[in-house]
Amino acid sequence: MVIWSVANQKGGVGKTTTVVSLGALLAEQGKRVLLLDLDPQGSLTSYFKDDPESPQPGSYHLFQPAETRPHPVSLLTETGLPNLTLIPGRTALATLEKNLTRQAGMGQTISQALKLLSNDFDHVLIDTPPLIGLLLINALAAAHRLIIPVQTDPMALSSLQGMSATLNRLRSSIHRPLPDTLVPTLYDPRTRSSRLCLQNLKNEYPDRLWPQPIPVDTGFRDAARLGVPLGDRNAESPGWLAYSHLLESLLRADQEQLSA
Ligand SMILES: Nc1ncnc2c1ncn2[C@@H]1O[C@H](COP(=O)(O)OP(=O)(O)OP(=O)(O)O)[C@@H](O)[C@H]1O
Ligand SMILES: [Mg+2]
Repeated sequence: MVIWSVANQKGGVGKTTTVVSLGALLAEQGKRVLLLDLDPQGSLTSYFKDDPESPQPGSYHLFQPAETRPHPVSLLTETGLPNLTLIPGRTALATLEKNLTRQAGMGQTISQALKLLSNDFDHVLIDTPPLIGLLLINALAAAHRLIIPVQTDPMALSSLQGMSATLNRLRSSIHRPLPDTLVPTLYDPRTRSSRLCLQNLKNEYPDRLWPQPIPVDTGFRDAARLGVPLGDRNAESPGWLAYSHLLESLLRADQEQLSA
């Protein structure tokens, strides 16, 4: 089972869109895919028409004490799409950051829970909130690869530099290499600022950057409203094709990593 976490402490950069798109593309290839929502906002959960405010159990319950903790299998919910399963996020996740951060071992909760599902799924994609905290630490500790969507706007580089420093600190606490891929998102080639930002990212992060940006594609918003991946509406749309190419490159990178 391969686990990818999608993270950026900046909001609205395309994390949830990346999780839905890569997850749906993997599922289309026949992979058994789990989407795990660790964001208290529950955007991934809402995407599939589940309600983050619902009292039904979700990823929050994985953080309960062992005596009352459900088996993760009991949290699996349908997305309505073949091969694509969701563990929903609930707003209660927000309370974890306050209550539990100091308990030893809390950073491994998700990693341990996913081990119980290792025969059930080929791929897991974890969506994370736009902040540094216990949920992000759990997502990093569980992941084999970190995918960082970066909005191609003038603020991208400075916020990325801040985040890189934090990520490096977190990485050192998980005691193993965690490859990452920066994915430029919301790219608008008609604007100078988008073009300039992409060029700066290429100069600054030549080894970690996926150089083919995900373009602005209004189809993403329409697809989100309908609760389907963009490819279900328009498999030839520029945004969808961009995510297909990204997926190929990520799978190739994982393969190279394995054989290294
Ligand atoms: N390539 C794109 N083109 C056009 N719209 C996009 C694109 N990617 C994402 N969006 C839209 O931008 C908004 C923010 O995207 P998304 O929810 O994926 O970001 P996020 O990083 O998960 O946000 P948050 O930090 O709040 O969780 C959504 O309305 C989404 O549909
Ligand atoms: Mg999101």
